[in-house]
Amino acid sequence: MSGWTPASWRNLEVKQVPNYPDQQALKDVETRLASYPPLVFPGDARDLKAGLANVARGDAFLLQGGDCAESFAEHNPGHIRDFFRVFLTMAVVLTHGAAKPVVKVGRVAGQFAKPRSSDTETINGIELPSYRGDIINGIDFDAASRSPDPERMILGYRQSAATLNLLRALASGGFADLNRVHEWTTGFMKNSNWYPAYEEVALKIDEAITFMNALGLTPENTPSMRETNFFTSHEALLLGYEEALTRRDPLTNNWYATSGHMLWIGDRTRQPDGAHVEYFSGIKNPIGLKCGPSLETDDLLRLIDKLNPDDEPGRLTLITRFGADKVSEHLPRLVQAIKKAGRTVVWCCDPMHGNTVKAANGFKTRPFEQVLAEVRGFFAVHRDMGTYAGGVHVEMTGDDVTECVGGVSAVTEDDLKSRYHTHCDPRLNATQALELAFLVAQEVRNQRPGQQAQSA
Ligand code: PEP
Ligand code: CO
Repeated sequence: MSGWTPASWRNLEVKQVPNYPDQQALKDVETRLASYPPLVFPGDARDLKAGLANVARGDAFLLQGGDCAESFAEHNPGHIRDFFRVFLTMAVVLTHGAAKPVVKVGRVAGQFAKPRSSDTETINGIELPSYRGDIINGIDFDAASRSPDPERMILGYRQSAATLNLLRALASGGFADLNRVHEWTTGFMKNSNWYPAYEEVALKIDEAITFMNALGLTPENTPSMRETNFFTSHEALLLGYEEALTRRDPLTNNWYATSGHMLWIGDRTRQPDGAHVEYFSGIKNPIGLKCGPSLETDDLLRLIDKLNPDDEPGRLTLITRFGADKVSEHLPRLVQAIKKAGRTVVWCCDPMHGNTVKAANGFKTRPFEQVLAEVRGFFAVHRDMGTYAGGVHVEMTGDDVTECVGGVSAVTEDDLKSRYHTHCDPRLNATQALELAFLVAQEVRNQRPGQQAQSA
């Protein structure tokens, strides 16, 4: 880490870089951003790290989720509120079912930049730069909108600030009050087969609240009954943006990314000697590392040496995303290596990114059954190996979209075209998200008591 600065990543090979036509304009924007207020405080990032340390010990569970890519077009209060409502619903099902605190982390307020498998896209013989997320270029297939524009970083920053402002108000201003647990479900969720099960949880919570009130514990004198801790996260792909928002914490003198509480490294940018790993090695936030089938066991150990040399609990979350058919092949070798090395990590399952397929009609989709199957496989491996399955990471929305096929509301391939709104990958809709939460709650409950994260 010697010689690390927020800019030292610039000396290394950077993957997934947009080709900005005007380098001076890019520099000007980065300078402006560096003078703007932080979006989150280091103290809050430390609180999240402490929460994740509890997860690593097996005393809490991590729920991480949100859009694959936030968009400028979908920036409206309804979209944010509906996401938050479904997210809280999932969290309450998990807290109740698993009888553990749930650490809540949104893929939100900064989740804009997308890695792409190809730099360009060709349609009808016309080749243009690939869409890389609204913070970089536009999704429309024309030369002007596909040209990377640095001003989009300012828009992304401002949108993140506004989204955070609303989420903070919702988390602390009464919306998250447990007395309102019946109101969180949105209209179309009521058609879900899982709705009665949810109502049952809500009624049990009502009973518990009535009991607590009788004991003198009320939302007025017990903040945890009326508000919730909610944190933000995103893939820190666009390093110029991240560098501009990296600040020294006056209290500890350490460097923190202030674009979100938790940042993660994507599966395509985790080269041990690459620019992204260099950047992440110097910030003190809790961080995630996506682990796909191509991650070699030795490379994982090298990455951990760089990213968490002091084995600080809560610092590193391994977000595994192998695909339902590969989880039992790849997860055990990584778990074995971490156990052998005596390292402390949070194991979190992303059941989305290894299960993307193309439907016959060309839509990118994810069969919901495969998503559930990867979750089950993840828990089974940890059960077998005696390690603690600590979290799930999902792409989801509160909107009634038809992007993933299957689920109790049975979205078919034909339905995909009706409400397919994602700017990138297919997301779970609210009823699918609720169904997943019930499955996860059951799996968490079925872990052996005291099943811990790796013991050295
Ligand atoms: C994502 O989380 O949207 C993503 C691109 O994931 P991965 O890096 O795991 O492919
Ligand atoms: Co995605």
